Formats: sequence, C-alpha cells, structure tokens
Amino acid sequence: MNTARAARIWDLPVRLGHWALAISIAIAWLTAEEEAWRVVHIIAGCTAGAVVLFRLVWGIVGSTPARFGAFLRGPGAAWAELRSHLAGHARARSSHTVVGGWAALGLLGLALGTALSGLAGYRFDDIEALSELHEALAEGLLVLIGVHLAGVAVMSLLERQNLPRSMITGRAPNAPEAGVRSHPLAALTLAAWCGLAVWWLTRWLGLPL
Ligand code: HEM
Repeated sequence: MNTARAARIWDLPVRLGHWALAISIAIAWLTAEEEAWRVVHIIAGCTAGAVVLFRLVWGIVGSTPARFGAFLRGPGAAWAELRSHLAGHARARSSHTVVGGWAALGLLGLALGTALSGLAGYRFDDIEALSELHEALAEGLLVLIGVHLAGVAVMSLLERQNLPRSMITGRAPNAPEAGVRSHPLAALTLAAWCGLAVWWLTRWLGLPL
C-alpha cells in the first residue's frame, strides 16, 4: 500500500462499532441453541442492538464517509461504479461502494430487528410469533453476512486493496480527500452507551446475573 496516499476514511466509532457488531453477532450465533448459554446470547444480542442504534445516529452526525448521505445512492451511481470497474479504473474510495452501502444498511436493519425481536420474545415469552420472527430475521441476517463477506473478498480483489485491513486501520489507499478525524470521544461514548444499554436491559429482562 502506498502509505503516503493512504488517508483515513473510517473514524474510530465506525471501526469499533463494526468489530463490536461482528464479534457480538458471532457470539450470539454460537450461543443461540444452548439453554446454558442463554444469558451470554442475550447480552451479545443487546450489545449488537446498542451498537446499531449508535451507528444510526452516527450515520447522521458522524464524519463524512460514515454518513448515510455519503454512500446511500441510487441505481445510476451503482451503474457508473460498475462501468468504471469493468473499464479497469482504480476507483478513489471515499466511503462504501453503492451496493456495499445498501448491504451495510441491510445488515444494520436485520441486526437491529433480530435483537429487538429476541428481546421482546424473551420478555413476552407467551407470544410465539415473536420467537418465530426472531429466528426468521436471524436466518436472513446470516445469509446477508455471507453475501457481505463474499462482497468484501470480491471488492478487495477488484480494487486491489485489503478492505478488511482498512476497516481495522481506517486508512484506504487512493483516498481522494484529506483524511477524517479519528473521533476518540465518540468511540468512548459508543462503549459507554453499549455498557449502559446492556446493563439496563439485563435488569429489565430480569436476567439471573
Ligand atoms: C470477519 C468478518 C468480517 C469482515 C472481514 C468484515 C469486513 C468489512 C469491511 C471490509 C467493511 C467495509 C466495506 C467497504 O469498504 O465498503 C465492512 C462493513 C460493514 N460490515 Fe463487515 N465484516 C465482517 C463481519 C461483519 C458482520 C458479522 C457484520 C454483522 C452485521 C458486519 C456488518 C458490517 C456493516 C454494517 C458494515 C458497514 C460499516 C459501517 O458503515 O459502519 N460485518 N465489513
């Protein structure tokens, strides 16, 4: 990677949020079936939900590449991106691709829906439809995560850059603008918000902690 041109496009809250979401969803998935792991499953799900709520706010007030306005664009923009890839042009990357942006919104939406239906299903366990909805959303999320990982691998090859590494370091080669600020205070707020939300929800649910 040409480090001289590798500007930061992902601030700390985006990166911390991404990996917290990925890890909490992996834990929730691994502990979904076992009654003995139910508390861990619920805490992981609540963490995922809290991360998504923060990300929705950060998508409005956060740094430019993190904003929904920067990456949620119409089919015309997706078509222009595709043509530029087919023509072999190295794309200057300043946020998600158009398709990647919509997939990100889908992942956030499904993760939040899965968390909320799980919470409601646990709290109101006499309503069978809630747990069925929870399972259906979780399956949809799993499929979209598979598509997401395949998309990340394909785009890393097409763009000849390591996208997972960018999601760790925040930096992307050929980024067109001066980099964004890191926003450590917002990252701290994300961590505090998740801690508080999970603590409150465990009390609301009456979890045996
Ligand atoms: C090892 C597993 C994973 C890797 C390597 C990975 C990698 C990435 C990368 C590279 C991006 C940025 C794509 C781009 O440059 O446009 C991204 C974005 C994203 N990923 Fe993942 N991902 C993983 C797992 C997950 C999981 C499990 C979820 C769960 C929902 C997830 C949700 C998202 C979301 C919501 C975004 C958009 C980030 C934002 O704008 O805040 N990822 N991922």
